[in-house]
Amino acid sequence: MATVAFIEDIAQHEGREVTIRGWLHTRRSSGRIHFLIIRDGTGFIQGVMSKAAVDEETFLRADHLSQETSIIATGTVRADARAPSGYEIDVSALEVVGASVDYPITPKEHGVDFLLDRRHLWIRSERQQAILRVRHEVIDAIRDFFNNRGFVLVDTPIFTPAAVEGTTTLFPVQYFDQTAYLTQSGQLYNEANAAALSRVYCFGPTFRAEKSKTRRHLTEFWMVEPEVAYATLDDVIALGEDLVTAVVGRVLERRGRELKTLERDTGKLERVRTPFPRISYDEAVGILKAKGQDFQWGGDLGGTDETVLSDQFDRPLAVHRYPTAVKAFYMKPDPARPEVALCVDFLAPEGYGEIIGGSERIDDYDLLVQRIKEHQLPQEAFEWYLDVRRYGSVPHGGFGMGVERVVSWICGLDHLREAIPYPRTIYRLYP
Ligand code: 4AD
Ligand code: MG
Repeated sequence: MATVAFIEDIAQHEGREVTIRGWLHTRRSSGRIHFLIIRDGTGFIQGVMSKAAVDEETFLRADHLSQETSIIATGTVRADARAPSGYEIDVSALEVVGASVDYPITPKEHGVDFLLDRRHLWIRSERQQAILRVRHEVIDAIRDFFNNRGFVLVDTPIFTPAAVEGTTTLFPVQYFDQTAYLTQSGQLYNEANAAALSRVYCFGPTFRAEKSKTRRHLTEFWMVEPEVAYATLDDVIALGEDLVTAVVGRVLERRGRELKTLERDTGKLERVRTPFPRISYDEAVGILKAKGQDFQWGGDLGGTDETVLSDQFDRPLAVHRYPTAVKAFYMKPDPARPEVALCVDFLAPEGYGEIIGGSERIDDYDLLVQRIKEHQLPQEAFEWYLDVRRYGSVPHGGFGMGVERVVSWICGLDHLREAIPYPRTIYRLYP
């Protein structure tokens, strides 16, 4: 009996007979030899089946194998310098497990809607597998980063009674006889949790009814949000810098093969080192004007503005102190200049836009009540949140980092929809 092996471990089996359980990716045949590209979810390898090595029936059957037929192939592992994985398998036996008739995603070009309608199959492609592995690595690196720094993971609810990031992007859900909203951010709960446990993070799906159709917006996306008691804006920026550097470093270290599949220019990622450039919103406005952008002090930065700014730097850029008026209700105004908030956005290089948004939070009870009123938010729904100011309020801050934005940037994708297994956008709820 040959050992069952995974393609990713194939080097350990050189010269020996192994069994690979997977699917037929592609096939090419010359009269006497079938070249079968087999994939097993861990990699791709070429199986060489020569007429002389197998019985006639096996050889004939291989002639009709179609794309994505599930197969179990047995053969001897041989080093081959020309092979992408460095190895090939000389196939001696082949078993068909499940047929695959008219697999819709062929090696020819397909439109993106066609592929998205078949996302559950599209993820079998080499490129999509590479992206999903990078995503896995990003998530794993984020968890390790916080766990190794004494942060406690505290999960925040998904059904919530109120808005965090503005009322225009709320998804209502019928919650028995009340209306609940899918969470836009775990931040408000994080603040209570930080008062309990000092350094906390939540990590889960968040939801926003984004009606705009952009490359940077999903309606369901994953966000990691740390919150730290007694943190200042500088602490928040330093934490964000360290996190981004750790995540990029980890992907470079462990996912070189995937980045190569994606043809990513890793030189650009290698430049991601601390410290990141930091500029104030005021300085950002100056740069935008100098670059010919029609931008007035007081507005929020749009996608193009972000790209113009990030193009001036070779690593992520921290823009701090935006006008208080364009930012969320909970952000603390700068005591030296209340018209700007103690907040920061991290803009990724290469036009990938905002990957992190964070701030110091208002710790003064009266000011927070005033802001809730100004933003016309229902104060009853925020009473518990005000308790964090009623009982031992402290300065504190944190941020949210969007996983798909980071994956998209690290992988060099054109659109966020490839950075999540099953994207949700205004026009897409299927599959
Ligand atoms: O800047 P945002 O809205 O910040 C918050 O939600 C804060 N409450 C976080 C906090 O301080 N705890 O969102 C944070 C990040 C953005 O920088 C971006 O990376 C991502 O979440 N993001 C989105 N990603 C994909 N699709 C969308 N529609 C997104 N909206 C925000
Ligand atoms: Mg933001």
